[in-house]
Amino acid sequence: MWRWVCCLLALALLNAGCQRRETGVWTLGNEAKDLTPELRASVTKVLEEHSGIMDSPKMLGDDKFDATKLALGRSVYIKRYVQYHGVNGDGQGPTAASLVPKPRDYRRGVFKFTTTPYGYKPRREDLVRTVRKGIPGTSMPAFNLLPNKELQAAVDWVLVLTHRGELETRLVNNAKEDDEVDLEAVPDIVSGLVAAWERADEAQVLAVTPQPKFKTDHIVAGKQAFLTRGCAKCHGEDGRGQTPDNLRGDLKDSWGHPTRAADLTSGMLRGGQEPMDVYRRIFSGINGTPMPGFQQALASEPETTWNLVAYVLHVSHERRRGKILESGSIAPFK
Ligand code: HEC
Repeated sequence: MWRWVCCLLALALLNAGCQRRETGVWTLGNEAKDLTPELRASVTKVLEEHSGIMDSPKMLGDDKFDATKLALGRSVYIKRYVQYHGVNGDGQGPTAASLVPKPRDYRRGVFKFTTTPYGYKPRREDLVRTVRKGIPGTSMPAFNLLPNKELQAAVDWVLVLTHRGELETRLVNNAKEDDEVDLEAVPDIVSGLVAAWERADEAQVLAVTPQPKFKTDHIVAGKQAFLTRGCAKCHGEDGRGQTPDNLRGDLKDSWGHPTRAADLTSGMLRGGQEPMDVYRRIFSGINGTPMPGFQQALASEPETTWNLVAYVLHVSHERRRGKILESGSIAPFK
């Protein structure tokens, strides 16, 4: 009899052990390491109140969010992403160090490839698309074979991590400045964060003028604009990004990693190959990177944005067509 009880007990313990290993524990990031133990405890308490713990998470600002979806999201994330993006979503999973570019740190709430204006959060659809299609030319693969339910749940989980990370960042910064965690300010911080995400869902950038059917004229005009509007300064005259500044690797993104103006001829546009994707990169810029938006600069000549798109797509396909452009020179148009 006792043998059975012991066996059952051992099984239960083993099971609990496995579960704990599967889910892991959220911790505070490096930014909080200089806080006193009391302040750290205070930050952790607020985080647990609003984002829960990893075993029992909450969607920020939505206590009624379906717990089964979150549990599914957690297990998909742990199975497929945690080794890169890390338990806390800070981009520091065990295999992250060797990757270039580095896996994204979600806790900043900054996402590069969005359909929203510069400085905005992404729409939920933008995150779904990044997970589904991956990011060409990086180690982020396409998860297009993942059942939609799992993919959506993984995005829910990314949102949980992002919200928690943003809240943590705000609390840690305030604690550093004021030497306390101002609990009265927390509801406003939370509603501000939630509102920023809701605003993004309504803020999709649409083209100012309809896309023309691209002809050689558009490409030629686009090339002209590329050379005279400052694009070539960063991307090089031939779009390969081989300018001295770029090659020195002085540019940094807002995650502190070195970045370079994209090689537009590589055939792997990270933000997507569709004309509207390229339009949004040029019009809105790319969050967290030195790529500026040209919405203002081109406000009085909306057709120029489409010309630039035509040119970027043209050079982007050049290399795929087997043509290796020489550094510093633009191949003449036929
Ligand atoms: C100050 C430097 C700078 C200028 C000026 C600049 N870019 Fe960029 N651009 C970048 C950087 C850096 C990136 C890469 C961002 C990243 O993904 O980290 C980039 C990325 C891009 C992308 C996205 C490529 C992809 O992989 O999807 C496009 C398209 C682009 N630039 C076009 C342009 C055009 C057209 C202009 C001029 C109208 C321009 N850029 C001006 C720095 C610049």
